[in-house]
Amino acid sequence: MIARINELLQEVEALKAANAEELEALRIKYLSKKGAVNELMADFRNVPADQKKEVGMRLNELKNKAQEKIAALKEQFESRDNGCEDLDLTRSAYPVKLGTRHPLSIVKNEIIDIFARMGFNIADGPEVEDDWHVFSAMNFAEDHPARDMQDTFFIENNAENVSHNIILRTHTSSVQSRVMENTQPPIRIICPGRVYRNEAISYRAHAFFHQVEALFIDRNVSFTDLKQALLLFAQEMFGKDTKIRLRPSYFPFTEPSAEMDISCNICGGKGCRVCKNSGWLEILGSGMVHPNVLRMSGYDPDKINGYAFGMGVERIAMLKYGIDDLRLFFENDLRFIRQFK
Ligand code: PHE
Repeated sequence: MIARINELLQEVEALKAANAEELEALRIKYLSKKGAVNELMADFRNVPADQKKEVGMRLNELKNKAQEKIAALKEQFESRDNGCEDLDLTRSAYPVKLGTRHPLSIVKNEIIDIFARMGFNIADGPEVEDDWHVFSAMNFAEDHPARDMQDTFFIENNAENVSHNIILRTHTSSVQSRVMENTQPPIRIICPGRVYRNEAISYRAHAFFHQVEALFIDRNVSFTDLKQALLLFAQEMFGKDTKIRLRPSYFPFTEPSAEMDISCNICGGKGCRVCKNSGWLEILGSGMVHPNVLRMSGYDPDKINGYAFGMGVERIAMLKYGIDDLRLFFENDLRFIRQFK
């Protein structure tokens, strides 16, 4: 052991490094966790008791020498670096900090990715819409409560004259009518976007939020196709063991309509505070496109049919990340949004 220590002492004495990388390699070779010095330290256990004192001293000497030598070499570089050729005057004086994506963008992109893999393309439409595309073309009756002042933001033409024709869209289903009026089937689209509703702001409601709409139009589309797409989505988004359940529901633009629940991903279906002890979480609205909607889009419902569904991005993000207040998404508190990578 003494012989090996002496050998290393000589080696260390003669160390030379031409640049910072070489120096780092030396540091790793001698002083890192698995370096030569530590290796000897580990062997120290096996040194006979009567030699321990002498070997211990030499070993310490080696360690100190190695540290000193490497520190000395480092200093050489650092003093030499000052004013040398590769001085970069364009470099920022402060470390550049990269931002993170907003949690809603992360979740939206994830939803888009999943449906892109199933062959859906992205479609887009205006947030300031007319009544026709949001309501009439989607088979809302003239006196449907969703058109009411309580829900819809109306755009003023001038101070006295509030037009009830131009509104902020209350759902992304308006993009369905926009796409269908100028596209021949087959159609397979998803529409992510912002929607607006005149609601009191609370932990569970806001005056604006985000949806992703899906529309599939072709010949012989069945409810089974809808169910299969929804199951695949739920399992990609919330995990392979996720179960879905469809409950009968009502939307003017789909018939039959169903609300989809997923098995609670927090308690695994046993029942907890988030799923209100039911084991299920409501995720989205869906259904087979109503014959009236097909007709208004210029299709023959006897030949062409399809399914549609729409989901809230905030709701999915809240369930995925266990967020319990919707307002957090819109406050831009860095402590909140920096947590999502
Ligand atoms: N537009 C509905 C909503 O905002 C969701 C939905 C979309 C339902 C498509 C069925 C089909 O609640």
